[in-house]
Formats: sequence, C-alpha cells, structure tokens
Amino acid sequence: MRVFVTGHRGYIGCHLVDLLKQAGHRVTGCDLRLFEGCEWEPLVPADVDLVKDVRDLTAGDLDGHDCVMHLAAISNDPMGDINPEITYRINRDASINLAGLAKQAGVGRYLFSGSCSVYGAGQKLDLEETDPLNPLTAYAKSKIQTEEAVSKLADDGFTPAFLRNATAYGHSPMLRIDLVVNNLLACAVSTGEIRIMSDGSPWRPLLHCRDIARAFVAFLHAPRERIHNRAINIGAPGSNYQVRDVATQVERLLPGARVTFTGEVGEDPRNYRVKFDLLRSLVPDFKPEYALESGMEELHRKLKDHGFGLSDWQGDQFVRLRTLKKRLDRLGMAA
Ligand SMILES: NC(=O)c1ccc[n+]([C@@H]2O[C@H](COP(=O)([O-])OP(=O)(O)OC[C@H]3O[C@@H](n4cnc5c(N)ncnc54)[C@H](O)[C@@H]3O)[C@@H](O)[C@H]2O)c1
Repeated sequence: MRVFVTGHRGYIGCHLVDLLKQAGHRVTGCDLRLFEGCEWEPLVPADVDLVKDVRDLTAGDLDGHDCVMHLAAISNDPMGDINPEITYRINRDASINLAGLAKQAGVGRYLFSGSCSVYGAGQKLDLEETDPLNPLTAYAKSKIQTEEAVSKLADDGFTPAFLRNATAYGHSPMLRIDLVVNNLLACAVSTGEIRIMSDGSPWRPLLHCRDIARAFVAFLHAPRERIHNRAINIGAPGSNYQVRDVATQVERLLPGARVTFTGEVGEDPRNYRVKFDLLRSLVPDFKPEYALESGMEELHRKLKDHGFGLSDWQGDQFVRLRTLKKRLDRLGMAA
C-alpha cells in the first residue's frame, strides 16, 4: 500500500517509517524538519521525502495514497502554554484540513495521532473511551477538537480513526528526553540523581514509542469496520504506572542514583489511568513487544553506548521545547 506519513522524522514517526517499509509498504513522508540536526542515530529514509509544512499540503500531494497517518504536531504541553495559537493552528486546524484533503483525494483511511492526555485530570481511575474528557492543556484540547471535527467527515469511502496514544518512552533514532520515563533515566545517567518534579503519585499510561508505531501499522491492516470513526486508547494491559514506579525502575538500573523530589510542579493535576480493552477486542493483531523493564533496559544501554553526559542533558538536542524556541521562524512565527 502507499502510505502518507506526516511527522515521519519525529520520535515516533521514524520508527513508523521503518516498520511500514519492513511490512512492504511504500512511504511518502512529510515533515518540516523542525528538529533537523537533533538525530541521535541515522533514520530509515522514506521512499518520497517532502520537506513541507502540513498547513501547505494540497489534495494533489495525497493523490494515489491508501492511508494518511498524521503525526506532525507540536508535541509538547509547555509550548501550548507559551503560545496556544500555534498549537491550535498546527495540531487542530491543519489536522482537520488535512482530513478534508485526504477525503477529497480519495484516500480511504486517516489515522490521527491523538493522546490519552485528553483525559487530563481523570475523574476516576481506569478510564474508557466513553468516559468524560477533562483536558488541561491547549495540546490536549487541540486533540479533542480534531477528533470532533474529523469524525463528521466519516462516510462509506472515508474512514478516520483516532489513536489516543499513551505517553511514549524508550529508544528512538530521534530521541526525546522531555518525556517522563526518558527524562528520569537520562537525568540519572548524566547527573546521578533521579529528579521527580511532582510528588510521584500521578498515574500515566506508558507505551514504548516503537509499539505506538506498531499500533499504526495494525490499524492500517485492520478491517475497516473495526476501526471506522472510533477513538481508541493505545496501550497495553498493565501499562499504567505511577511516576514513583518509574523511579523504582531507574533505581534498579542505576542502584547508586539518589532520588530527589523537587516539588517544582506541586501536585501534578495530570493524572489518568486508562483501560485498553477496546483496543484488544477491535485490533487483536496489535502486539506490543516491550514491557517497561525491557524498554528501559534498552534505553539505558543506548545512553551508555552513546556516552550520554551532562552536556547532552543540559543541551537542546533532545528537548523539543528548547529547539522549537530557536526555530519559530520555520513555523512562520517571530522568534
Ligand atoms: N511522544 C508522546 O508521548 C506522544 C503521546 C501521545 C501522542 N503523541 C502524538 O504523536 C505524534 C508524534 O509525536 P512525537 O513524540 O514523535 O513528536 P516529535 O516532536 O518528535 O515529532 C513531530 C514531528 O512533526 C514535525 N512537524 C511539526 N509541525 C509540523 C508542521 N507544521 N508541518 C510539518 N511537520 C511538522 C516535526 O518536525 C517533527 O519531526 C504527535 O501528534 C503527538 O501529539 C505523542
């Protein structure tokens, strides 16, 4: 099949290109290269590589494709706080527009990279797709508003599906250390400290970034009626953790590291524990390959092999917000 992947040079997207090509698909990638120069390891190239803002795509760009997998976004809560407008324009408006273009171009399937952060301050534990949403950030709101608008486009010839992804972690050739698991591990490796910014109690669903990419491939292959116009939580049974459980895993890998609670975010209101039963029943072919332990062991090994040190921890390369702030011009904004 011919698959159009946006954000294919990102943390999750670069795994997705690799998996799609391994499965025999032809990949067109579209990415503005906001994080050019931040590569940790070489990326598997797409068959066709468009360096383009998703806001500038046309139906002609999508012609001849069987599926759009839309991952390009400002994937970052703090950026949404600093400049909510850019988050809404790219994450919501461009995503809705892209779905319309895909439909116009006769692309049958549109897979949207959503987020479990739509549950925000969870009103109860073990949240299901039909439970009330309680988004706390522009980022989370942009994901919900996209689901709402794009679902109206669904018809016999156009199948959108909304993957509400767990928080990603683990190794990627486009590593990020601004996600909770990677942050705690990279901090401990480079400073000897496990620095917890909350009180350690919030729940988060966690899934390896390559397993999130695997979910997109499973949705590509799933029978249409199973996923048609559905929002589905993406994770694995048993993959909800409290932040302090993650710290315990880091201590297991680095027994000498000291745990400190900085308290800088106080009581973190983003607290959600999520169920994945719907995914298991509708897309049984999705099989995650990592457990938190094995994913963290792999990343630990990689950090050591790369000689990850203090300058990496303090630098811009692996922290999206720091790099973005210097590249606002690429998004058509004044720095
Ligand atoms: N990382 C997570 O924990 C997580 C969790 C849930 C959902 N998601 C979603 O998955 C997707 C990918 O996340 P990620 O962690 O790989 O993010 P990332 O920041 O690593 O990658 C995003 C990519 O999109 C590109 N991009 C951004 N704006 C663009 C634009 N206007 N035009 C073209 N390209 C643009 C960037 O250059 C980058 O390569 C996002 O939609 C994100 O919201 C991520």
